[in-house]
Amino acid sequence: MKTLKINGIQHQLDVEDEMPLLWVLRDELGMTGTKFGCGIGQCGACTVQINGQAVRSCSFPVIAAVGADIKTIEGLSTDGKHPVQQAWLERSEERRVGKECRSRW
Ligand code: FES
Repeated sequence: MKTLKINGIQHQLDVEDEMPLLWVLRDELGMTGTKFGCGIGQCGACTVQINGQAVRSCSFPVIAAVGADIKTIEGLSTDGKHPVQQAWLERSEERRVGKECRSRW
C-alpha cells in the first residue's frame, strides 16, 4: 500500500511500484485533468508538480512520488478560476477538443 498526497489530500493506493503516476491519477483516482499525450515524456500534457517541480507523470513511477507533495491542475483552485485552468479551457475550445476533455480542464 502506498500513500500519495495529491492536492493536499492523502490517498491510499495498492498499485505496482513502476506504474506511471499518470495512470494512477487518471485510472485509479479518476483525476482526468492530467492528460495523456505522447506517453514518452515529450509533449507535456501529463505535467504535474512534485514538490513544486514540473514532472512528466507519464514517465514518472508512482513509487518515486510516495512522500512527495503532488499538485495537479485540479489542485490549482477549487472553483476552476486559476489562470492555468482558464487558459486550458480557452485553448481546448479553440482547438475543438472533445467534450470529454474540456469537462475537466
Ligand atoms: Fe506527453 Fe507525458 S504524455 S509528456
